[in-house]
Amino acid sequence: MPELRVGEWAWSVAVGSNLLDALNLAGIAVPYSCRAGSCHACLVRCVQGEPQDNRPEALTFAQRERGWRLACQCQVREDLQVEVFDPRRDGLAATVAELAWLSPTVLRLRLRPERPLRYSAGQHLVLWTEQGVARPYSLASLPEEDRYLEFHLDCRQPGAFSDAARRFQVGAPIRLGELRGGALHYDPDWHARPLWLLAAGTGLAPLWGVLREALRQGHAGPIRLVHLAQDDSEHYLASGLSELSAQFPNLSVEYVSAAELPDFLAKLRLVSRQTLALLCGAPASVEALAKRLYLAGLPRNQLLADVFVAHA
Ligand SMILES: Cc1cc2nc3c(=O)[nH]c(=O)nc-3n(C[C@H](O)[C@H](O)[C@H](O)COP(=O)(O)OP(=O)(O)OC[C@H]3O[C@@H](n4cnc5c(N)ncnc54)[C@H](O)[C@@H]3O)c2cc1C
Ligand code: FES
Repeated sequence: MPELRVGEWAWSVAVGSNLLDALNLAGIAVPYSCRAGSCHACLVRCVQGEPQDNRPEALTFAQRERGWRLACQCQVREDLQVEVFDPRRDGLAATVAELAWLSPTVLRLRLRPERPLRYSAGQHLVLWTEQGVARPYSLASLPEEDRYLEFHLDCRQPGAFSDAARRFQVGAPIRLGELRGGALHYDPDWHARPLWLLAAGTGLAPLWGVLREALRQGHAGPIRLVHLAQDDSEHYLASGLSELSAQFPNLSVEYVSAAELPDFLAKLRLVSRQTLALLCGAPASVEALAKRLYLAGLPRNQLLADVFVAHA
């Protein structure tokens, strides 16, 4: 049986053990969220030996060169020595700068990082509480425009991070893990094309960033933003969006409640085959929207989606 080593600790595990499970079963608390290779909460560094990695493409070449692996995607085949991601050593320090409830369930968290972070609209980060809870959240801010890093947290359900976030105080420390880009971004080559931004719940966070980036870059084509939410009280950026639509005639904004969704989907039609659609939110909503757009004739490569996979 291969030996797994972390610092001074070494123990034997069955061949083919999932690395994340093997570490957590031994009491080495490695956080995780999606278990699907998308959130990167479970990063570990392999300092000796090589696990079988089932999703090597989930990390960049440079990250893999430095030994980083996603524990949830790795199986132990041979002796392996790993270091767990230590947010104090490997992450960036930040403090809570502002807290505001944008709706009964959506908390806006603004963070001041210890040093400037280079990022683009639509990217996400793993946030770490002092107690070691790590969860991925999308950036709603823009590096060129905003003083703080902004996040929109869905706190409707109980959850380890959401519970901690409800108790955050201004000035509290928080650590930032790895910065990542999913599918969502703004490409200046899209300048004249119709752009659809379809967000469910706090899936609006990265699309708020992408929208402002598109407007900042002078996007000339029509932009249609649709926000799906449980009910009217949850259209949490309505005032900011109406200010933007008053300022930019090419921007139209629609609000759809859960009760209105079936009708909205049934009536969804493509006006142009040039349309680019960016989707974000919980898996069920993104799947329903993607399926409808596909049936409406949108080519698959014109649909970019980030899915908020919850903690497994
Ligand atoms: C790339 C990416 C970006 C994301 N960006 C955002 C974002 O910008 N905003 C946002 O709000 N979310 C975002 N998410 C989703 C967010 O990371 C998850 O919802 C995360 O799990 C929330 O953490 P939590 O600790 O509050 O809840 P968790 O403790 O992780 O629980 C997850 C869900 O399971 C439920 N649950 C927990 N324990 C139990 C139990 N015992 N029985 C039944 N149900 C249970 C909780 O109520 C919760 O709804 C993103 C996800 C990904 C992958
Ligand atoms: S990538 Fe491993 S838990 Fe999300």
